[in-house]
Amino acid sequence: MARLLVTGGAGFIGSNFVHHVVEHTDHDVTVLDKLTYAGNLASLSDLPEDRLRFVHGDIADAAVADELVAASDAVVHYAAESHNDNSLDDPHPFLHTNLVGTFTLLEAARKHGTRLHHISTDEVYGDLALDDPAKFTEATPYNPSSPYSSTKAGSDLLVRAWVRSFGVAATISNCSNNYGPYQHVEKFIPRQITNVLRGVRPKLYGEGRNVRDWIHADDHSSAVLAILDKGRIGETYLIGADGEKDNKTVVELILTLMGEAPDAYDHVTDRAGHDLRYAIDSSKLADELGWRPRYQDFERGLAATIEWYRNHEDWWAPTKDATEAFYARLGQ
Ligand code: NAD
Ligand code: DAU
Repeated sequence: MARLLVTGGAGFIGSNFVHHVVEHTDHDVTVLDKLTYAGNLASLSDLPEDRLRFVHGDIADAAVADELVAASDAVVHYAAESHNDNSLDDPHPFLHTNLVGTFTLLEAARKHGTRLHHISTDEVYGDLALDDPAKFTEATPYNPSSPYSSTKAGSDLLVRAWVRSFGVAATISNCSNNYGPYQHVEKFIPRQITNVLRGVRPKLYGEGRNVRDWIHADDHSSAVLAILDKGRIGETYLIGADGEKDNKTVVELILTLMGEAPDAYDHVTDRAGHDLRYAIDSSKLADELGWRPRYQDFERGLAATIEWYRNHEDWWAPTKDATEAFYARLGQ
């Protein structure tokens, strides 16, 4: 049994990870979360109180980070500003949380000799051409496009430097696009599902030819646990489940699964600098650690996700209007 500090545990992937840990291990979990617009305590409310402690705070607050890291066997660092469209509108919080926040946790981990796993994204590698058979590997050069992805790339480089120069016992994982329960309605899949539930037409950026490599959030969690258990210190592992789909295909599938005509969506203004395609080669994770994804049928996973949003309007409705007001201002 270990004491895990999970930063950003009230967000989408962090809360899925906390559920996964409580269900599959006997680890004690402390969540440190600032509860920004993206954090939601309701995502953790069904978990037993004796398995989970919640601390409301900022990862960039050195005193809080120091105290909590000192009391933990390992830090699993999810906290971030995570949305590309927000980063194009106002990059400031991305520099604070993704760079200063990660630096603050690394300093605490260095001081107390605490193991740290840093959660990152495939977006640090930039994008691939639509007709390129290649996928990202751990050897792909960094080439981020947006303020979000450049701050995530910077945070990865900080982790690598703290491993090499200060001997911090850290690992990094870079994962592809997650879907599943508890994802904020600003993101592509929940935005379209909740639009349809509200009788609003889904919104596709540009022509919708951009490709994302979808993985269920629960598979991301099992991969992170495998790295925590068996990953080699200082190493990076790419996490993906061979789920490449273009955005048009995903919107059409959502509409079909929800009983609507597959073309009942609108094309809206494209994202600036919009990455074309992400694709992950996760063979290092599979070969070294024996990890395999469980959710390999995207249509079934998507149908279950639609049901979750249908049954949890109380969870998403409070954030829907403000999110759509933001997109309306951008013409999206
Ligand atoms: P999210 O926006 O849903 O959640 C982020 C959480 O971090 C929120 O609970 C928020 O309150 C918290 N937070 C933000 N700033 C904080 C701060 N300064 N101090 C403490 N807490 C703070 O994000 P997500 O989609 O769950 O992503 C989690 C992590 O996974 C991020 O590091 C992201 O880069 C990475 N990632 C996401 C995806 C994806 O598809 N969503 C894919 C790969 C990697
Ligand atoms: O690849 C991993 C990344 O995936 C993570 O690092 C990010 O935190 C996460 O937000 C996600 O980034 P994307 O920018 O790919 O996700 P998003 O859900 O914003 O958009 C997915 C695709 O859908 C992208 O090509 C833009 C498009 N899109 C998005 C929205 C919100 C639309 O066509 N319409 C929309 O309304």
